[in-house]
Amino acid sequence: MVKQAAGARPAFHVTAPVGWINDPNGFSWYEGKCHLFCQYHPYSTQWGPMYWAHYRTEDMVRWELLPCAMAPDEAYDAGGCFSGSALETEAGHVLMYTAVMLETDADGRSRMRQQQAIAIGDGETYHKLAGNPVITSDMLPEGCSREDFRDPKIWKEGDRYYALMANRSATGEGQALLYTSEDLEHWSFVSVFDHSGGQYGGMWECPDFFPLDGAEVLMVSPQFMEAQGLEFHNGNNSVVFVGKRDPEGKHFLRQTPEQIDYGTDFYAPQTTCAPDGRRILIGWMQNWENRMCPDDFDWCGMMTVPRELSLRDGHLIQTPIRELLQYRTDKAEHRGDLRAADGWQEWDGICGRFLDLTVSLTTADCDIFRMKLASDGSGKETFLILDLKKGILTLDRTYSGMKLDLITARSMYIDTRREQVTLRILMDAYSIEVFADCGRNVMSMVIYTPREADRIAFSCEGATEVAVEKYAIRGK
Ligand code: FRU
Repeated sequence: MVKQAAGARPAFHVTAPVGWINDPNGFSWYEGKCHLFCQYHPYSTQWGPMYWAHYRTEDMVRWELLPCAMAPDEAYDAGGCFSGSALETEAGHVLMYTAVMLETDADGRSRMRQQQAIAIGDGETYHKLAGNPVITSDMLPEGCSREDFRDPKIWKEGDRYYALMANRSATGEGQALLYTSEDLEHWSFVSVFDHSGGQYGGMWECPDFFPLDGAEVLMVSPQFMEAQGLEFHNGNNSVVFVGKRDPEGKHFLRQTPEQIDYGTDFYAPQTTCAPDGRRILIGWMQNWENRMCPDDFDWCGMMTVPRELSLRDGHLIQTPIRELLQYRTDKAEHRGDLRAADGWQEWDGICGRFLDLTVSLTTADCDIFRMKLASDGSGKETFLILDLKKGILTLDRTYSGMKLDLITARSMYIDTRREQVTLRILMDAYSIEVFADCGRNVMSMVIYTPREADRIAFSCEGATEVAVEKYAIRGK
């Protein structure tokens, strides 16, 4: 197998060191540094028994790879150390994860029993508790699946710990179960905190719950969700519910869900709270339905750029982590008119694959605005197309060099009723993240177009005044 040359990696996104990664886990601060773990299979570029890879950062742009934090090395987690979260405590850095135990049932069929376990460490080395698993499948209420009971999100409130777990009900619904503990070792069931009500997917994976701008937010990644309009097309989706807990704190009262990211490649996001109070999200920049990895890569899987969260008019806003601004370099700008008759235009210095690009255009006389990204000028290119009349932005990687018959385009509504529309586009070797409407609408996609394809071209129907500001991102 050909190996990827050093330096061929993304510059400011977490990638698998070697092998496979999925889901961010244990995103947390410990002793003043930010830690990120993730689902990890070191032995191939496919999913397998899960380990926890471990990264540490001081600025969320440059990530240091640390030794693997956990391996599936106990009878109760031999099937894998599945997703979970982390918390700084007086006892150390607590990792709470799903221990998958392999069993054979009375009919000889192999089964996975999912229970919750804890490891405690010093930020580098972690030890699993002797009393694991701390939440066993016997502690599930009647009618809750033992095979789909996972992804604990832990937090502390007052002097109690809480954890929210993903579960499937007997009727096949996604639900989030709330447990509580005083000492991390003894847990008790509190309530079915929220459930899909037959509307939002068959199993809720990776729940997260946190306060945000005076409200409370529940995020889940529902499997098997039916598409509606331009929303929920990924099969495995990630949705946000804004709301509030009931006065007893047992149930979540919420508004209708919204898609967190409209791209093909986004799943299982997790958040943490930075010491300065910012709520920061990171997601797996791939998806179960659509996953791909070039044959000559020895690694598969990336995370999104960390994103600062806020609420505006009750909607989630995502903005790339502000620390990225310090890594901007090689500024190039272009301002001018663009008309249909000009065809495709390329502008001095506006090119590259490691970019922070802001594009603003006037809307009054423009019907369609198009960009070719990661273009080699002879057919390999990814299109970003804005239909200003319909207010629909489409990212299309059909010609990105992909050799698999996967889904290649996604669209989302954006607000084109203003005089000017602004798009911020982050590109990093093999990914594109588009932030529209000041972070109200976001889409992420991976592209494995050869890295030499670094041209960017612009065209339109009608006429527009365009302002482009480009920075290269130096990253690692
Ligand atoms: C989500 C997920 C989690 C599980 C993990 C296994 O992508 O299916 O529910 O813990 O991946 O790797």
